[in-house]
Amino acid sequence: MNDKMTALIVKLSKEHSLSQEEYEYLIRHRSPEAAELLAKQAVEVRKRIYGTAVFTRGLIEISNICKNDCLYCGIRRSNHSCQRYRLREAEILSCCQEGYELGFRTFVLQSGEDAYFSDERMCRLIGEIKGKYPDCAVTLSLGERSRESYRRMYDAGADRYLLRHETADKAHYQKLHPAEMSFDNRMRCLEELKQIGYQVGCGFMVGSPYQTEAALAEDLKFIEVFRPDMCGIGPFIPHNATPFADRKAGTLELTCYLLSVIRLIHPAVLLPATTALGTIDHRGREKGILAGANVVMPNLSPVAVRKKYELYDNKICTGDESAQCRSCLAGRMKSIGYEIVTDRGDIKKI
Ligand code: SAM
Ligand code: FES
Repeated sequence: MNDKMTALIVKLSKEHSLSQEEYEYLIRHRSPEAAELLAKQAVEVRKRIYGTAVFTRGLIEISNICKNDCLYCGIRRSNHSCQRYRLREAEILSCCQEGYELGFRTFVLQSGEDAYFSDERMCRLIGEIKGKYPDCAVTLSLGERSRESYRRMYDAGADRYLLRHETADKAHYQKLHPAEMSFDNRMRCLEELKQIGYQVGCGFMVGSPYQTEAALAEDLKFIEVFRPDMCGIGPFIPHNATPFADRKAGTLELTCYLLSVIRLIHPAVLLPATTALGTIDHRGREKGILAGANVVMPNLSPVAVRKKYELYDNKICTGDESAQCRSCLAGRMKSIGYEIVTDRGDIKKI
């Protein structure tokens, strides 16, 4: 590792900020030694703030029906081989019940952009969940909606919203999405969610088609400036029935490297070791935690629908019961000296 690299890592650890050119250098000239130093610093920072606790979120995939046609996504509307489903309110509530008993204190309701889940339906559902489990956080991940819709769901009790920005480079965004989708609208949503008062999560895929080091540097600068409460990054993985079927997947190495960098940019950020990371490497989630992540998001969806929420090929955990997923992850975390906790897992204000 050269002196410039060492100096940049020291600067990042102290100041939590680099210029876009410096971020690009950090990515372009990375080496195993740089990755090791970044991970060491990232783990130190994360342990100072969160100790060895790993927060969990119970992910409930409420519908795979989507009006959008994102080129990378297995549940895009043009994928006619995808078997569509939508959970009923009672099914969602029974996932929460099971999750609560297993120790989850955050429920993430995720779906394609499905108009069936109108504001009225969502507000009723959020109200029911918060009424039954007042000690739990409700996180929504329903895509792009109007400010009014975000406000109504917030007023109904939703605490957090996950909306990956996907890429902070507008030209790159346009290569990943059809013309009717807009980068500006995605960014508008993120700003409004924050203004309304949600704890907001952004994020991006690592190794998505057409991604350059410069685009990744823009992602890092965006995270530094936007200061999300959560940041979801995971490797892009091709899905056989999408236009990107033949593209290469993102790597474990670069994803872990970026997890460490993001931890140093924003020390308290909630950073999941994603299912996609666990899909490209059988110990991917453990490696993500060892790079500085502090959250895991096991699946709480009914087993009967799991395979249908197939964003990418070979997604893991689609055949396991929720209890199995949780105990499997608890064991994995224990094997690396961390422990899953029963906690809402809010961001620590430092
Ligand atoms: N519809 C909501 C939205 O757009 O935010 C939530 C669901 S969407 C499927 C959740 C995330 O899955 C996306 O933000 C995207 O980053 C990720 N994703 C989609 N296809 C993927 C793929 N092929 N590989 C890895 N991640 C993917
Ligand atoms: Fe809508 Fe992926 S295209 S969730």
